Amino acid sequence: MDKEKVLAAVQRYIKNKFEGEGSGHDWWHIYRVLKSSEQIAEHEDVDLFTVQLGALLHDIADWKFVNGDEEVGPRKATELMESLEVDALYISKVCDIIREISFKGAGVKTPMSTKEGEVVQDADRLDAIGAIGIARTFAYGGNRNREIYNPDLAPEEHNSFEAYKKNEGHTINHFYEKLLLLKDRMNTSYGKKLAQERHEYMEGFLSRFYSEWEGKL
Ligand code: ADP
Ligand code: NI
Repeated sequence: MDKEKVLAAVQRYIKNKFEGEGSGHDWWHIYRVLKSSEQIAEHEDVDLFTVQLGALLHDIADWKFVNGDEEVGPRKATELMESLEVDALYISKVCDIIREISFKGAGVKTPMSTKEGEVVQDADRLDAIGAIGIARTFAYGGNRNREIYNPDLAPEEHNSFEAYKKNEGHTINHFYEKLLLLKDRMNTSYGKKLAQERHEYMEGFLSRFYSEWEGKL
């Protein structure tokens, strides 16, 4: 197995599959998660190849787009990696990352079973917050035809993945139901530091948003 060739082939496959997607889960999300994962991995004692494969494949079949079958992702990733003759140990670790990575609601814990998974989960979460996180969240809301904000509808705390998935609220609520919760759920110290900065940026954005909503500033 030539690791460079495997990474190049996986990257080609994913780029082709995700290009032009309009909900914020496009190829460039995968690209940013790969770059952030590599940055975080420099500060951690992890296997870089597993981290890179995990980052490239983590959204291969996102639950929001495949009607809830959580095994589609691991199955597709396994087929792809087997066709590239990736060793079984890597395949199993990458599949665990795909299974475990997602946020599933404010009240639902989502621990990762490997250090490599912790790195990729942090990178995925960093892309959900800060300037990019704000852009992606409104892109997703528009893609689902949601209101940007409705002051009459308060955010909810979801205690199960089922309740979180069913939620149809406006996009500002998503900040309270997920984005602002992420900084306290980071795994690595470098990830925590970046998350703190991005968190503060979102708080500034929200404060201006509410002022402008009332015609102020
Ligand atoms: P994870 O990366 O933990 O699997 P998701 O794939 O569910 O998270 O979500 C990734 C991004 O998609 C979110 O960070 C957000 O930008 C957007 N998104 C998902 N659900 C919603 C929602 N209900 N409203 C607005 N944006 C959403
Ligand atoms: Ni992702």
